[in-house]
Amino acid sequence: MKKQWDKEFITLFNRLGGRRSNWEVWNDFLTMAAIAFANVMPTPERTEREDCYLSIIRSYEKEEQEIFPQLLSVVTMAFEENPKQDFLGNLYTALNLNQHQKGQFFTPYHICEFMAEVQNGGDLKAEVEKKGFISVSDPACGAGALLIAFANSARAHGVNYHEKVLFVAQDIDATAAKMCYIQLTLLGCSACIIIGDSLSKPGFHPDNEVYYTPMYFLNSWRFCEKTRTEEISANGAVAETVSEVVIEAVVSKPSVDAAEIREAFLEEADGQFSFDLLTAS
Ligand SMILES: C[S@@+](CC[C@H](N)C(=O)[O-])C[C@H]1O[C@@H](n2cnc3c(N)ncnc32)[C@H](O)[C@@H]1O
Repeated sequence: MKKQWDKEFITLFNRLGGRRSNWEVWNDFLTMAAIAFANVMPTPERTEREDCYLSIIRSYEKEEQEIFPQLLSVVTMAFEENPKQDFLGNLYTALNLNQHQKGQFFTPYHICEFMAEVQNGGDLKAEVEKKGFISVSDPACGAGALLIAFANSARAHGVNYHEKVLFVAQDIDATAAKMCYIQLTLLGCSACIIIGDSLSKPGFHPDNEVYYTPMYFLNSWRFCEKTRTEEISANGAVAETVSEVVIEAVVSKPSVDAAEIREAFLEEADGQFSFDLLTAS
């Protein structure tokens, strides 16, 4: 019988709710999980994020601290078993957390699948082979359901989305953006998730915080080489141009040099991902 990972998550989650609201615990879980993934790479924000992580985990009792890695392992196992789902988005609604955001609503996954198929209807594989890679953007990404469906649809069309698709996501709501970041990380997407207002501060505005997936750093050079005759706009759309715009300069924040970070990572970690997940120290 298949394990019901959502029920498993809720049972564990409820054990953390005694002294705090579900909203606070949910946000603490997302922030720590996002930092655990983001801090695999030596980004400029690493120390600040580590401090944030420690201040959150230290606010919990010892027995409570031990529940957080279990929650993340449940999310990981859920995606391992079924990558075609919006696991965190569904839990967010099931736990009534969307009421905090005035009834924020995410698109049901089967609708996302339909939309991705409509988008990818032509010969996606041939298009990717011709262009070298494609990019996809959701400037109001929520928990990332549309992008998850896009990744699965690309795979069904014979496209290795880990290497051939650049995902760009933005949401004004940090809670939603972190859900998206965690899910796209677990699916191995090369992705940048931007926290900020897509209307007044689109893309890599200096006020926006950006989370890059580890896979992004490993693959950014692929997008770099292929875009010398293309320009990537803030929302990820690709337009032909005569200028020699290199995607890394456009897709990364000015403070983030993906090539340099990748080199430092390869040296430091010997090319191995090591997730020091949700530990207290
Ligand atoms: C209806 S949800 C859709 C989420 C996702 N695209 C989906 O289909 O499941 C709309 C999302 O847009 C975000 N949003 C609303 N106004 C925004 C803005 N100005 N900039 C960025 N995100 C915004 C909300 O926080 C919310 O997560």
